[in-house]
Amino acid sequence: MANTRIALVTGGMGGLGEAICVKLAALGHNVVTTHSPGNTKAGEWLESMQRQGYSFRAYPCDVASFESAAACVKQVVGDLGPIDVLVNNAGITRDMTFRKMDKANWDAVVQTNLDSCFNMTKQVCDGMVDRGWGRIINISSVNGQKGAFGQTNYSAAKAGMHGFTKALALEVARKGVTVNTISPGYIGTKMVMAIPKDVLDSKIIPQIPMGRLGKPEEVAGLVAYLSSDEAAFLTGANIAINGGQHMF
Ligand code: CAA
Ligand code: NAP
Repeated sequence: MANTRIALVTGGMGGLGEAICVKLAALGHNVVTTHSPGNTKAGEWLESMQRQGYSFRAYPCDVASFESAAACVKQVVGDLGPIDVLVNNAGITRDMTFRKMDKANWDAVVQTNLDSCFNMTKQVCDGMVDRGWGRIINISSVNGQKGAFGQTNYSAAKAGMHGFTKALALEVARKGVTVNTISPGYIGTKMVMAIPKDVLDSKIIPQIPMGRLGKPEEVAGLVAYLSSDEAAFLTGANIAINGGQHMF
């Protein structure tokens, strides 16, 4: 059965998402991803992945919108069948000090990072419970665990994701469905490259005991484990993968 599982990874065209798609495909999953409805590079990405030997499917989806998430999952299920593994990975930052933050920048980050967990999980959870097997993996952040300067919106949303994980994990624990959070530290993707270089060099890298950014593949390996049969007893956890930046 492991070879025929369907995994839906939101935001698979981003730095972490692509590595997760590649890893899950290498393990034999049938991998489906989403992109923002306005993403004009989706076709290009799919072709490039095809050249590398990966035949992913991709669907437009605004994860911040319940209606968009519902339409997307309906289409995926109609085309391929029910979803066994959901990775809530799509996310954004709108970094600024609280003093400068307006409501639009609060809402965008909370809706994209946190509401998306409800929007996407709602579409797949009942089916997983009915079939007696499922994996829900929420990609949070070290900054949801420890807070970060300039990220009241993002830290709140990412902390909220783990509250969601814990509550849902309790509800589905007896049904063969696990729900876990991964909290990566700073990984070398375009999200981190958007940080001003002087801030990255002077304020962030020095806080990482390993003295480097993480690699997307390092997070993808953990997603692969959580999505496996072996991880059946692991639920409600928040697994840090941050080069030692935050230990607790
Ligand atoms: N710690 C302490 N002080 C900081 C600071 C930090 N990390 N970052 C900025 N400051 C200080 C500056 O030194 C400056 O102080 P002075 O006024 O005393 O000179 C002050 O804050 C600047 O404040 P401003 O309101 O003028 O802010 P700004 O316009 O310069 O921008 C910022 C502030 C948006 C927070 C900018 O510094 C920034 O982008 N920082 C990076 C935030 C960050 O870590 N984002 C993570 C993105 S990646 C990600 O989120 C992935 C993940 O999950 C890990
Ligand atoms: P990234 O390269 O910027 O990718 C983000 C992805 O999210 C993109 O594929 C984007 O799709 C998608 N997305 C954004 N808004 C969306 C929306 N409304 N609807 C659908 N998709 C949307 O970032 P990343 O570094 O890979 O981050 C992936 C996840 O890991 C995020 O949740 C992030 O918060 C988390 N994280 C990252 C780090 C890090 O250091 N990089 C650390 C901890 C946690 P489009 O391109 O199609 O818009």
